[in-house]
Amino acid sequence: MPPRKWQIGDLLRVSADYLRKKGIENPRLNAEVLLAHQLRLERIRLYLNFDRPLNNREVSGFRSLIRRRIESEPLQYITGTQEFWSLGFSVDPSVLIPRPETEIAVEQVVKLAKGTEREGTNYLKILDLGTGCGAISVALATELPEAVIWATDISEAALSVARRNAVTHQVLERIRFLEGDLWEPLSNEDVPFDMVVSNPPYVTSGEFHALAPEVRDHEPRLALDGGQDGMYYLKKIVRGAHDYIRSGGWLILEMAPVHTEKILKMMEKMGHYQKMARIRDYSRSYRVVIAQTL
Ligand SMILES: C[S@@+](CC[C@H](N)C(=O)[O-])C[C@H]1O[C@@H](n2cnc3c(N)ncnc32)[C@H](O)[C@@H]1O
Repeated sequence: MPPRKWQIGDLLRVSADYLRKKGIENPRLNAEVLLAHQLRLERIRLYLNFDRPLNNREVSGFRSLIRRRIESEPLQYITGTQEFWSLGFSVDPSVLIPRPETEIAVEQVVKLAKGTEREGTNYLKILDLGTGCGAISVALATELPEAVIWATDISEAALSVARRNAVTHQVLERIRFLEGDLWEPLSNEDVPFDMVVSNPPYVTSGEFHALAPEVRDHEPRLALDGGQDGMYYLKKIVRGAHDYIRSGGWLILEMAPVHTEKILKMMEKMGHYQKMARIRDYSRSYRVVIAQTL
């Protein structure tokens, strides 16, 4: 029998059925994104070209993408991109795929920046701890032309992805990338900052094994694991931040909803913060804590 001649429409239908049988959520969407990626087309173009015949190279390339997806590899690592703050970010397995919740932290920084008085300078100094692919830093640099950003990460590979994203979005000259453990790379830097923002690892070690295989087996554990109670980095940041933020500046932290109350209590006890508040995410869960330094 001669090999089957595929067209876009029937290949999409058959592969979406296959992904569904293999337990992949949103199988049709996955099939469309992967075929569009293979053919280097926008997804909408698939619909305008349903009858377009595919050659063997295109079909076999697409098959290998489908195989990777069945092995639970996230779509974003296969296509190499994720949208965040309406900007396209390059991602690879050395970085966490930026999540929509993190836009809440960016929104808060933007809002607070607009209402913050500057002391002596006309630029705004922001520190992004654990920048990953640079999502927060790059989004802030594009949104706040007066911002100068220090972006740190313990992972050299993540920083090189972040740098690439800063180049893509033409903000490299306003972001200083530093490698190292939390505050350590800032010892020779010009502190304090007007704002410190972070989305640190905050999954508890116990929860880690129950994560979806896409996350557990493919995203970097270094970006997820927040220790036994998930608060290892959050506590370290809250304890140290007031030394790095000028008086009247702001700390903006993303965390799991269950952490927010504990972190607010910790801040209250420390006596270095005021105007503490927690902000809800798109699913109405508390996700971000903000606090002003005294
Ligand atoms: C949850 S990810 C957040 C990435 C990115 N900011 C975002 O929101 O998509 C946490 C990041 O912190 C980094 N990280 C983990 N431990 C660190 C440490 N001790 N010092 C600095 N960065 C660290 C990880 O490499 C990872 O990129």
